[in-house]
Amino acid sequence: CSSQTTPPSGDWQAVGTAAELDKTGQLLAKNSPAGPVLVIGTSKAENLTAVDPTCTHAGCTVAWKAEAKKFACPCHGSEFGVDGKVQKGPATNPLKTYAAKIEGNSVVVKP
Ligand code: FES
Repeated sequence: CSSQTTPPSGDWQAVGTAAELDKTGQLLAKNSPAGPVLVIGTSKAENLTAVDPTCTHAGCTVAWKAEAKKFACPCHGSEFGVDGKVQKGPATNPLKTYAAKIEGNSVVVKP
């Protein structure tokens, strides 16, 4: 691997490919340059949703519930909306969200 310099914040970061995202409608990049990112959507969607899936309660990784259109934490049951806002505790702080889009064949996000 080549050494990677930390890019200045505010730049778009590739977190995966459009094909990966389209396969399941979500893409989890645990070690992206921007930190852990969970992207929801497909390359055909108008808007992609991207959050840091680290639960703000105690740090478990939340899962996307497509039917309910929300993120749920497996550890203590916190729930977050697509906008990252808390819908159900014990978490009190929202998930960090990212802007996300498709660029060429890549899924890119920006804090
Ligand atoms: Fe997510 Fe406790 S770590 S609800």
